Amino acid sequence: MDRDQLLRELTEFLRIPSISTLPAHNQDCRAAAEWVAAALRRIGCRDVQFLGSETHPVVWGKGPDVPGAPTLLIYGHYDVQPPDPLAEWTTPPFEPTQRDGRIYARGAADDKGQVFCLLQAIAASRRPAVNFRFLIEGEEEYGSKVLFDLLKREPQRVRADAALVADMSYIAPGWPAVYTTLRGLCYAEITVRTSKTDLHSGEYGGAAPNAHEELSRLLGRLKGADGKINIPGFYGPVKRPSKAELASWKKLPFNEKDFLNKRVQGKGLVGLKKASVLERLWALPTFEIHGILGGFTGDGAKTVIPAEATAKVSMRLVPNQKLATVEGQLVAAVKRFAPKHVTASVRFLHGADPAQIKIDTPAFQLLDQAFKEVTGRGTVPARAGGSIPVVPALASAGAPVILTGIGLPDDRLHAPNEKLELKQLWDGIEVFRRFYELLGSQEPGVRSQGRDS
Ligand code: BES
Ligand code: MN
Ligand code: MN
Repeated sequence: MDRDQLLRELTEFLRIPSISTLPAHNQDCRAAAEWVAAALRRIGCRDVQFLGSETHPVVWGKGPDVPGAPTLLIYGHYDVQPPDPLAEWTTPPFEPTQRDGRIYARGAADDKGQVFCLLQAIAASRRPAVNFRFLIEGEEEYGSKVLFDLLKREPQRVRADAALVADMSYIAPGWPAVYTTLRGLCYAEITVRTSKTDLHSGEYGGAAPNAHEELSRLLGRLKGADGKINIPGFYGPVKRPSKAELASWKKLPFNEKDFLNKRVQGKGLVGLKKASVLERLWALPTFEIHGILGGFTGDGAKTVIPAEATAKVSMRLVPNQKLATVEGQLVAAVKRFAPKHVTASVRFLHGADPAQIKIDTPAFQLLDQAFKEVTGRGTVPARAGGSIPVVPALASAGAPVILTGIGLPDDRLHAPNEKLELKQLWDGIEVFRRFYELLGSQEPGVRSQGRDS
């Protein structure tokens, strides 16, 4: 198919504002699921189903049966993160625009463009001897609850010889990667209340407690200026990467100065001084404040003591940390650090366990070969800072989970002006086309385990 036609199809997909966390966009999520279903039918799936939810269904598909051939589960997500702040987009987030060899839109790289790439690679191939299964969900950006519930009910859906997840990026331009860990996530709201109602700051100021002040102090106790997280027990299970792994990271095309100047574009980096930047990004847990609500933030000035303040926070977790344990640790820490005159509470919104993946199975060699043939360089093993909630469940179902992707580190996921480089897309289609072909031409004995578990 010609590239203009492909870009028209991708544009249709990217135009749909399928923001899973905002209920106002439920219909749009549904429309994106319909787009995926139609795309699956176009590449030959007969058994396409919507599973688990009216509004954010998991789209399930099954390609033509090829008896004796390996089964490949393709996972991706059609939902996206909110596009704000809108004023910072050069062109609107849901009006996909091509310029300088890139396509700009919310979801261009995360993950619609990559889902499109995986599917298009099938359309571009000559019926590889692979039993394709598809699991394209619409709640990845909101914790994947619908998918967890589904897998509890129907674990057989993910039975496969390998699972392919292209929701990540190259580690640098020209350097494709496979990922050995993902961080987990614990997302919460911490609310502090100090009085029944807001109070006049002249009448009461100096003697009445202030919710924002108390919240700031509480947050400051949870994480210090040195970057250390002071939640008791939090670092307990955290293991340092092995010497060999740390040494291998030194050979990666990653430069701390460039990371600061070209990617963060700030004045300095923060975090635990004793750890390298990659270690902070990949192998250490985090505590981030996403936003603080409450009090007076309108135009002008209002002299008031706010009675309530809420912080949206999240912690990234690393292998061996457990979401359920960390939730308990946060509640205990908030209780311990909040003074007696404050009512503090924690509400959990969603989360994910960290994932650890072995990359020594044959499917990884085939992907490595495909990247080498198409891009001139094979995959390097790396770790990822982000999270994909369902991956631990996929991995525990037995099939090797291949975490890879065609994005680039500067694609600006979740941020204004998200983009995908078209060269990455065209190369990606070739890479996965070749990967499917190689997988389909394997002797049965070469196949990895996981089928009957
Ligand atoms: N594709 C990302 C995950 C990702 C990003 C992995 C960068 C590696 C590098 C995914 O769509 C994502 O953003 N996940 C959320 C999950 C969360 C909302 C439960 C995340 O990591 O914030
Ligand atoms: Mn994603
Ligand atoms: Mn994302």
